[in-house]
Amino acid sequence: MEQSDNQWGSRLGFILATIGSAVGLGNIWRFSYVAYENGGGAFLIPYFFALLTTGIPLLILEFSFGQKMRGSSILSFAKVDKKWEWVGWWSTLVTFVLITYYSVIISWSFKYLYYAFTQAWGSNPESFLYGTHLGLTSGLSEIGGINGSILGTVVLVWIINFVIIYNGIEAGLEKASKIFMPVLAILMLIITFRGITLPGAMEGINKFLEPDFTALLDPKVWLAAYGQIFFTLSICFGVMITYASYLPKKSDVVNNAFITSLANCGFSFIVGIGVFGILGYMSAETGQPIQDVVAQSIGLAFVAFPKAINMLPTFQTTLGVIFFLALAIAGISSSISMVEAVVAPLMDKFGLSRKKAAVIVCGLGFLGSIIFTTGAGLYFLDVIDHYNMQFGVAIIGMLEAIILGWYYRAERLRNFFNPISNFQIGNWWDIMIKYVTPLFLIVMLGQSLITEFKQPYGGYPLSGLKIGWIVAGALLITSIILNLLPSKYNGRLLDK
Ligand code: PHE
Repeated sequence: MEQSDNQWGSRLGFILATIGSAVGLGNIWRFSYVAYENGGGAFLIPYFFALLTTGIPLLILEFSFGQKMRGSSILSFAKVDKKWEWVGWWSTLVTFVLITYYSVIISWSFKYLYYAFTQAWGSNPESFLYGTHLGLTSGLSEIGGINGSILGTVVLVWIINFVIIYNGIEAGLEKASKIFMPVLAILMLIITFRGITLPGAMEGINKFLEPDFTALLDPKVWLAAYGQIFFTLSICFGVMITYASYLPKKSDVVNNAFITSLANCGFSFIVGIGVFGILGYMSAETGQPIQDVVAQSIGLAFVAFPKAINMLPTFQTTLGVIFFLALAIAGISSSISMVEAVVAPLMDKFGLSRKKAAVIVCGLGFLGSIIFTTGAGLYFLDVIDHYNMQFGVAIIGMLEAIILGWYYRAERLRNFFNPISNFQIGNWWDIMIKYVTPLFLIVMLGQSLITEFKQPYGGYPLSGLKIGWIVAGALLITSIILNLLPSKYNGRLLDK
C-alpha cells in the first residue's frame, strides 16, 4: 500500500480532524460536571497543569512519533522494536472497546434529537431517561432484553462510521471534519450565547468558576484532571499517532499540537460557561441551589438539559434540537477517529484492504455495542468504562512515555520535530516525557488501585466488577498474542 494515497489533502484538514477527534462527548457533558465536582474554578489549576506537563508533551510525542514512523500505533511501535508492537495493540484494543459504548451514547443523542422536536421527555426527564428511554433493570445481574429502538439508532451510528472510514483519509475523514467542525462551532456558540443571556446565568457561571482551593489538596481532584486531559485530547488511544502518520513528513509538529490542544480546551471552557449559565437559570427558576440541578455524568446531558429546555421561556424546541445535534456531531467526529485507529493497525499488520478492515471493525464493533443496548446496558457501560479508562489508558500512557522517552530516547524525537517546527521546544520536554509523565501516572495508578480495593467501584457487587477486570486482562493478553502473529509489514518496517 502506497502511503501517498493515504494523506491529508491539507494541513487544515488534518487540524480539523484532530480537533474533531478531541472535541467529543467528553467536552460537552464530561468536562462541565467533572470540573464542577472537583473544586469548580480551582479545578482549572490541575487541569492546566496536566495539560502543560502531560497533555501537550504527549500530544507532541504522538504527533511526531506517527509522522516520523508513518504508521498506525502498532506499526510505529514495531518500528522502534518488534517486541513493542503489543503496546500499540493494547491501545488499539482499548480504543475498540471504547467505541463499542461511545457509539451507544451517540445513538442516545440521536434519539434525544428526535425527542427534542416534541420534548417527548415530558415533565420528568429523569424517569423518562431510565424508564422509557433505557428501560434500565435493577442491576448487572438482570440483563433484560435488547432495546430495539436504541439498537436501531446504534445501527445508524455504525453505518455513518463505516461510510466515512470506507472513503479513506481525504474523501472520508477530512471531508467529514470540514463539514462537522464549523457546524459544531456555530451550534455551540448559539448554546453558550443563549446560556449566558438567561436570567440567573451569572449565578451558575460563578458557581462553575468559583474556586475552592482546598480541593487542590485532594489527590482525587488531580486524578480527575489527568483523566480528563487524556480522554479529551484522545491521547494514548493510537488515534493521534495514526492521524499524524498521514501527514507529509515535514509538517510542523509543535504548532499542530498547540493548536489542537488549545482549541479543544478552549471549546470545553466555553461550553462549560454556557452549560452553567443554563443551570444557573434553572436554579433561579426553581429556587433549588445549583448543586441540586447539576446532574452526574450522563445525567447532565440527558436529564438536566431536558429539564432546562422545559423551563426555557422561548425557543425550547430549537435549543433542544441544537444541543442534541451538537452532541451527536461531536460524538461522530470522535468515533470516526477511534474507528480509524483500529482499522489502520489491521491494514498495517495483516495487509488488509481499507474496505475489508472497515467491514471487520464496524461489524465486530456493532456486535460489541449490542450488550450496551440491553436493560443493564448502562451498568455495563459504567463498569467497563471505569476499568478501560482508569487502568488501561494510564498504563499505556506510562509505557508510551517510558519506551519513547528512554528506550527510543526523547531527544531523538525532539531532534526530528524541532527542525521542521516553527517554534522550538527545549529539553524541558524530555524531562516531562521521561520523568514527570511516568511519575504522575504511577502515582495515579497507585491511587486508583488503593481506592479500588478499599471501596468496590460504584457500589457494584464484586462479581459484577469481575467483568471489568476480565475485559481489561483479556485486552492485554490479546495484544501479546497479536504481537506474536506473523506480520505482513514487508519492507515497511525498515522505512523509518
Ligand atoms: N476526545 C474525545 C472526547 O472528548 C474522546 C476520544 C477518546 C476520542 C479517545 C478518540 C479517542 O469525547
